Amino acid sequence: MPYVPRTTRTTLSQRGLRALLAAACAGTLAVALVPDASAQAHQPQHGPTYLNPKAPIGQRVTDLLGRMTLADKVGQMTQAERSDVDADPSLIATWRLGSVLSGGGSVPTDNSVTGWADMVDRYQAAALQTPLHIPILYGVDSVHGHGNMLGATVFPHNIGLGASRDPQLVEQVEHVTAIETRASGPQWVFAPCLCVARDDRWGRTYESFGEDPSLVAMMETAIDGFQGAPGQLDRPDHVLATAKHFAGDGLTSYDATKALGGGYPIDQGIDQVSQADFARLALAPYIPAIKRHDVQSVMPSFSSVDFTNDGLGNPVKMSADKDLITGWLKQQQHFDGMVVSDWQAIRQLPGTYSEQVAAGVNAGIDMFMEPYSGSAVGAPDFIAALTQNVKDGTVPMSRINDAVSRILRVKFELGLFEHPYTNRSLAGTVGDAQHHALARRAAAESQVLLKNSGSTLPLSGRQPVYVAGGSADSFGKQAGGWTLQWQGDPNNVIPGTTILDGIKQDSRGPVTYSEDASATIPSNARGIVVVGETPYAEGPGDYNGPTWAPNGVQTMAFSASDQAAIEKVCAAAASCTVVVVSGRPMIIPADLLSKMDSLVEAWLPGSEGAGVADDLFGRHAYTGKLPVTWPRTIDQEPINVGDASYDPLFPYGFGLTTRVR
Ligand code: BGC
Ligand code: BGC
Repeated sequence: MPYVPRTTRTTLSQRGLRALLAAACAGTLAVALVPDASAQAHQPQHGPTYLNPKAPIGQRVTDLLGRMTLADKVGQMTQAERSDVDADPSLIATWRLGSVLSGGGSVPTDNSVTGWADMVDRYQAAALQTPLHIPILYGVDSVHGHGNMLGATVFPHNIGLGASRDPQLVEQVEHVTAIETRASGPQWVFAPCLCVARDDRWGRTYESFGEDPSLVAMMETAIDGFQGAPGQLDRPDHVLATAKHFAGDGLTSYDATKALGGGYPIDQGIDQVSQADFARLALAPYIPAIKRHDVQSVMPSFSSVDFTNDGLGNPVKMSADKDLITGWLKQQQHFDGMVVSDWQAIRQLPGTYSEQVAAGVNAGIDMFMEPYSGSAVGAPDFIAALTQNVKDGTVPMSRINDAVSRILRVKFELGLFEHPYTNRSLAGTVGDAQHHALARRAAAESQVLLKNSGSTLPLSGRQPVYVAGGSADSFGKQAGGWTLQWQGDPNNVIPGTTILDGIKQDSRGPVTYSEDASATIPSNARGIVVVGETPYAEGPGDYNGPTWAPNGVQTMAFSASDQAAIEKVCAAAASCTVVVVSGRPMIIPADLLSKMDSLVEAWLPGSEGAGVADDLFGRHAYTGKLPVTWPRTIDQEPINVGDASYDPLFPYGFGLTTRVR
């Protein structure tokens, strides 16, 4: 598809929507809509148009494109990983890279705001050595705050935000995430996930706002938080957002033959659905993301689509799905941003590497995430393959020009040509008290109260409080995956409060903590047992996932020690509250549930465990609602609201409420 420069919308956003509204009110709208002539008039006599900040972005793109060699263009379409260039950043100029990313846990030695900003600026300085001085974009997975960076505010994962049912909260959370990310260098986040998690056995369930596509669409205010209003991308408090993973990443079928082996039983799998279900569950969230929220990048999914009853049979990998990427997304929905491939995703396509590259580019992918990472193939191999494909006509030049135009336009919108280096003016706000206060409120709003016999919660009075369980005092578990490392780590320590810290702050009675409940339990004590999952991310978090999963194979059941702590405390304490810290529902046996007075799902609350305690002690009311259906047994998966036969433990949307004390 030929590149069509954005017209009215870009022009409007650049000139400021407020000015336009004022003009409309004053009856001078017609004048405000013809700005190009005046912009032309301001062009300097000397110097190329693309360097003129007053020239319309469409003209700057065309001008720059006209000056680029094939090597410049192919380089723009290439994204390498931090570790590929860190030892020798001049490679960025040699390869003419368009972008560099940090994969999960790929951090500078000094993993601080300054360390990050210095690193990104060092790479930027290298990029500006090319003849046309085209700046790079730096991308990172800020999926719950800028979690890779020590000192960042870590927010609840999306499933908890979905439970809050509060789109304004989500916008605020992602705005702070945008500030903390951009102040430390990266101008681009691979978030939000618009995944609709239909099977909780999926290791990415917590990256989803919920199982209902309308809930996911409601939470797309996340994009506004990241990007701001149209025309605000060049500000120091905004970043380019990515709607991922297009499309159907949450609809894959569980493949029992892959359980407990090396592969993933569900992540990166195959959607075996009708075209109507695919449209309703996978494509639908992208329509408002593009039309209402103007998301400027989209990442195709690792998964495949195999429409049932379409007579074709073969599953098609999303990275090669021209019908969906070029046809549906770009042509039908008029998506005018750029499409970025997932991590080495094209290497899962059939054929030689050269064929994989051609298939991805011709399907409509614009930028290619091609890190070396444990592989002999990387950015320079991509560049060689794509260059050859263009020379022999396998990839048309028009496709290259379209891809590069989209990438350049985003860079112009981000203001990178005027301000390539990190604007550090907001660096002092990273992890500050206000940001932590927002994280605390987000955690409090995301709590879901599932059982509350005899109004056990909120706890009040001066009775002793007895805390147990493996997740009570663990930043690593409450923050989950995508925190400091790709998979997270139960032993991670980040600035904030654990749930135990929060209980100590909020309780008016004395607090005893005994992880395994071996300390004596006073008979008048209020028991709080905090249990849950070990951290994970992506396929390693699948139920019965790969045996190599660094923090253990996930079972969605309580560990023996957590179960024992529940049994002990519930048998001895005056009341017994169980708090589950997990990225998805866990299977709770009926007899165990009957022993609990109250049950809370805390999701993965992030750096502020105090938010969990605020609800326990009535400083904040329970208002969260289940964003996914809670099954009775693992055999009920996948189970979703609207199923013909539906007998969950707790239905979608369930959540008891309390009052503030
Ligand atoms: C994930 C993406 C992520 C990318 C970069 C991939 O494995 O699927 O969600 O953005 O890695 O870390
Ligand atoms: C990287 C992640 C990436 C994953 C893909 C990891 O090594 O750190 O960012 O998503 O590989 O498999």
